[in-house]
Amino acid sequence: MADSASGQIDHVLTEDRLFPPPAEFTQKAVFSTEEQYLETYARARDDRDEFWKAEAQEHLHWFEPFNEVCKWDAPNVEWFVGGKTNASYNCLDRHVEAGRGDRTAIIFEGEPGDTRTLTYSELLTEVCKCAEGLQSLGITQGDVVSVYMPMTPELAILMLACARIGAIHSVIFAGFSAESIADRNNDASAKLMVTADGLYRRGKVLPLKETVDQALAKSTTIEKCLVLKRVGQDNVSMTEGRDVWWHDVVDTQDGKLPAVPLDSETSLFILYTSGSTGKPKGILHTTAGYNLWAKRTFEWVFDHREDDVYWCTADCGWITGHSYVVYGPLSAGATCLMYEGAPNHPAEDRFWDLVEKYKVTIMYTAPTAVRAFIKWGDEHVDKHDLSSLRLLGSVGEGINPEAWMWYHEKIGNSKCPIVDTWWQTETGGIMMSPLPGITATKPGSCCKPLPGVIPEILDETGRPVDPSSGGMLCIGQPWPGMLRGIYGDQERYVQQYWSTVPGKYLTGDNARQDSDGYYWIMGRIDDVINVSGHRLSTIEVESALVSHEAVCEAAVVGRPHDLKGQAISAFVTIRDREPDEELRQELRMHVRKQIGALAQPDDVRFAATLPKTRSGKIMRRLLRDIAAGKEVAGDTSTLEDFTVLAKLKEED
Ligand code: PRX
Repeated sequence: MADSASGQIDHVLTEDRLFPPPAEFTQKAVFSTEEQYLETYARARDDRDEFWKAEAQEHLHWFEPFNEVCKWDAPNVEWFVGGKTNASYNCLDRHVEAGRGDRTAIIFEGEPGDTRTLTYSELLTEVCKCAEGLQSLGITQGDVVSVYMPMTPELAILMLACARIGAIHSVIFAGFSAESIADRNNDASAKLMVTADGLYRRGKVLPLKETVDQALAKSTTIEKCLVLKRVGQDNVSMTEGRDVWWHDVVDTQDGKLPAVPLDSETSLFILYTSGSTGKPKGILHTTAGYNLWAKRTFEWVFDHREDDVYWCTADCGWITGHSYVVYGPLSAGATCLMYEGAPNHPAEDRFWDLVEKYKVTIMYTAPTAVRAFIKWGDEHVDKHDLSSLRLLGSVGEGINPEAWMWYHEKIGNSKCPIVDTWWQTETGGIMMSPLPGITATKPGSCCKPLPGVIPEILDETGRPVDPSSGGMLCIGQPWPGMLRGIYGDQERYVQQYWSTVPGKYLTGDNARQDSDGYYWIMGRIDDVINVSGHRLSTIEVESALVSHEAVCEAAVVGRPHDLKGQAISAFVTIRDREPDEELRQELRMHVRKQIGALAQPDDVRFAATLPKTRSGKIMRRLLRDIAAGKEVAGDTSTLEDFTVLAKLKEED
């Protein structure tokens, strides 16, 4: 097992508390009996095409019907072949045409407290204007639009505007560095960059356009840059002939552009995520299958009802924001709260203030946030009336039972089911989760697979193992929301996900199943670490470190961390410099500049040499133990130089 938070595993192995849903929740729930789930699950498994045919016909709008449900030739899949649909139409026009245009789609609150509400009709008009603006900048179907924006309605508008005309959005979280933006722009051959003058974060303004300008100096394919005025920065530098203002290009349009009927498999978006190698990969999702998966998983897991006010706290820079801020809830006609800023600005009760103010009924957040709330103290929660809440969700990493219990008791007043949702950027939407009306939850378990998900627990040779002892989590059958590839790199797609066990999707996670059939995610099998719910490759951080002139070699591992889940520990060997505090800080800042603040190592240790096997591989397992402050365990007989270990320990 790789870098999993082993402390958590000890807990979950002994966790046997059971929390059945309250009876009044079950009465009105989408799934209200176990039989209903079992029957739906069996139909999706045994008669896949019939099941998804009916789902797609009912839940998406078709300009032209599809003639084949699923064309599966592992690892390539096409869903709803021959059909034409449009994700922006499914999210907007469909509701407006059904007479539901006056329903609130987005309630926005900016960090400084500014608010804005958009009905489905208003959102449709804004999306049309934006799509017209994109067209006026020469964007057409298949062009890649790179996005580096604050979490404001315009971000969702831009995503849907791309979807409306068949352009492919590539959203980059607005915390990544100029280097990272440029890498992503070049990898995707992006034509347009969309950004803002700045964003608000903890009361300060972050000058996004300045970062983008640095990125564009190294981006070879960007022709234009569209800039939203969010913070009203003075002196924003605008390059003549390249940079244009959103209010000039978008706000001046008439807002009537019909959605373009697009083939089901038209690329919808690329989202970069870290894998086990140095270079982030552009995960590709396509229109119909992804849209259907986002909608149905949203409705099943969040048990969506007419009068809900739903809040997913994720940023659209991550997959959670794509599927559960934009495409899932809007396809379902939900009313969504969108918040721009930090959870502790102006004070640590900002989230609870928002829940009370907007009477939020469903809240979906990350374990790292829950752990921060616990640390900040109950008094921030106690100030507020949270009685509107009826359902809580968790995503991004396993939620440790202690945080689960606090979330359940303190935020949910012991009456709200918690849905611990396991999924990945690659899966497009939730794969395993409790169904809140029927599942008796166990703290720390993502419980059961959703209809259409066939998990398998296998060993390295692809053979089934005893599920209770755990193994590699693979998915044996295609599902509509699955990734279609790595943008521009089919070979890597096959190698990464489909070669370990030919014909089966390798999730990269370890899992086990208990005697009740519940699944427990046990951490990664590769060199991916999870820092505050964000995926990072240790090799990516190592590459950033060795690009510093003083670094000869670097090894990066995750170590358990109370708030972040995992912290980043770097071991480096250096040349021509003193191993002092100044260099340590310089290296941390260097990684920040190369990748972004989220990748900055928590600790940097200087070593004389790194422990290696005789074949020259760095022994990360040992470094993980050292970083975690544990006695070095396991077999060290293949260490090239035993003295290294002693030296590393002395560095502590
Ligand atoms: O290791 C699993 C962990 O996060 C990985 C996916 O990361 P990413 O693609 O960034 O997507 C995050 C949001 C879906 C998984 O391979 N992970 C995510 N959710 C859970 C989880 N681990 C345990 N329990 C979860 N609920």
